[in-house]
Amino acid sequence: MDASKLASAQEALKLVKPGMKLGLGTGSTTAIFIDLLGKKNKEEHLNLTCIATSNASEYQAKKLGLKLSSFEEIRQLDIAFDGADEVDANLNLIKGLGGALVREKIVDYRADKFVVMVGENKLVKKLAGILPIEVIPIAEDAVKQDLIALGAKRFETRMDGRRKFISDNSNLILHVEFGEIDDPVKMEDEINRIAGVVDNGLFTRNRPIVIVGTQSGKTRIVK
Ligand code: A5P
Repeated sequence: MDASKLASAQEALKLVKPGMKLGLGTGSTTAIFIDLLGKKNKEEHLNLTCIATSNASEYQAKKLGLKLSSFEEIRQLDIAFDGADEVDANLNLIKGLGGALVREKIVDYRADKFVVMVGENKLVKKLAGILPIEVIPIAEDAVKQDLIALGAKRFETRMDGRRKFISDNSNLILHVEFGEIDDPVKMEDEINRIAGVVDNGLFTRNRPIVIVGTQSGKTRIVK
C-alpha cells in the first residue's frame, strides 16, 4: 500500500466524530479511508451516516457495515472525504480521473468541511493536467467543438477497453488538456455553460482542507 495515501487517510480519520454525516469520495486513497472508517465504526459504534460518490464506494462502504443514505434524507454533510488528481497553490482541484466527478461534486459541494487526501505528487503551482468532463452522449462532438473555442488543445473520449467508458450516470467522459489553467474558477463555470456538459472536474467552490501524505508516512495539513 502507498505510504503517503495511508498516512493522509489515517490523519483524515481523526476528524470523524460520533453521529456525523459523511461524504465518501472515490479513488484508491478514499478506498483506504473507507476501509479504516469501516473498522473504526465497528469498534467504536459511531452511528455514522454516509453518502457515497460512486457505485464502487457505496458497495465498499455497505460491505463494511456503514450506513448509507441519500439527499432525500440529508440536506448537508458534516464532512466529505475525497481524493484529488491535482491541487494548486490556491487549493483549486482537478478531480474525476476515477470517472466519478459528477457525484463527487454533488457530495463534496454539500459538506461543511471538504477534506482532500493526497500524496505530495498531486501538488502543483497551476492546474494543467487532464481535465475530465462528463458529457451527454449525443452531444459528444458538439461539445468538443465548443471546448476548442475555450482553448482545449487535446482531447480523448475515456475508454473502457475497446468501448467508450460509461459513467455511473450513463454519460461519456472526455479527457481534455488545456495546458495551464490561469483562472480555474472562471473555467469551471465556462465549461459548464456548454450545452451537453453535465459537469467538469474543476473543483473551486468549496475550499478544501488538504491532508498531504509523504512516503515517509508523515502528513501536513494545508488550508
Ligand atoms: C475519482 O473520480 C477522482 O476524483 C479521485 O478522487 C482521484 O482520481 C484521486 O484518486 P486516487 O486517490 O486514486 O489518486
